Amino acid sequence: MSTGPPVALVTAAAGAGIGAAVARRLAHDGLDVVVTDAHERRCHLFAEALADEVGREVSAHQLDVADHDQVREVMSEVTAAKGGLGVLVNNAGWSRIEPVAEMSLGTWQRCLDVDLTGTFVCMRYALEAMIAGGGGSIINISSIAAWEMSTEHGAAYSAAKAGVLALTRVAAAENAVHGVRVNAVAPGLIYNDFLRRIYPQEFFDSYLADKAFLGRIGRPDDVASMVSFLASDEAGYITGEVLTVSGGVSARG
Ligand SMILES: NC(=O)c1ccc[n+]([C@@H]2O[C@H](COP(=O)([O-])OP(=O)(O)OC[C@H]3O[C@@H](n4cnc5c(N)ncnc54)[C@H](O)[C@@H]3O)[C@@H](O)[C@H]2O)c1
Repeated sequence: MSTGPPVALVTAAAGAGIGAAVARRLAHDGLDVVVTDAHERRCHLFAEALADEVGREVSAHQLDVADHDQVREVMSEVTAAKGGLGVLVNNAGWSRIEPVAEMSLGTWQRCLDVDLTGTFVCMRYALEAMIAGGGGSIINISSIAAWEMSTEHGAAYSAAKAGVLALTRVAAAENAVHGVRVNAVAPGLIYNDFLRRIYPQEFFDSYLADKAFLGRIGRPDDVASMVSFLASDEAGYITGEVLTVSGGVSARG
């Protein structure tokens, strides 16, 4: 359990990847998990399935992190209903890969709106509740794209995810005094059914052949384990850090 109430809100938790794995893991850890996602129907369906799995209620709220009024409303509803908030996992991310020389302003703006500003706004309102409740743990999902020199991620995504690291460190420095720890997790490639549909099989084959020291591509549960640790008091002396979950890929240099 983290410092603060045993209530965890996860953004973008109803997809095929990291967010759902994190919500499931935190629920199994015993936290009262609030599933949120921009996709309303999947959000409710996933919360119902998770509730059946863990044998207790799991609440669900439709939440697009780029809609600031909605973030404020959902945070306020959740903290009123649950008596506070102890854990926030900022998982929502968006990208479209366009070279800088051809990138539309719309692509740049959407990516910054979801990945960076969305993370900021969720933290902004969660921090109010955590400070009032005596502490908490915020985990921001960044990416190794934040520092890799690569054409694979797109500059808007890389810039937004690098911004998340800076935001994490400053928020950690400001809020340690309130008992709130703020950390980032930077995954490498994490396989899910959605990515399988948008990338050709050769992309995964070449990653396995050329990059995967551990002989496999990352799984959403690999990231969920790290988030579970950072959310817990086991990580009570860790704040302002970036924990990489990439199977060694990002350490290759
Ligand atoms: N999959 C990877 O290889 C990988 C690698 C590094 C970092 N990441 C980061 O991890 C996070 C999760 O990625 P994932 O690929 O596991 O996907 P995921 O399945 O966890 O997330 C997809 C979900 O995000 C929701 N979503 C999209 N835009 C949203 C918004 N504006 N507000 C709220 N919900 C929204 C979708 O409805 C969908 O349900 C992202 O921040 C991503 O950038 C992923």
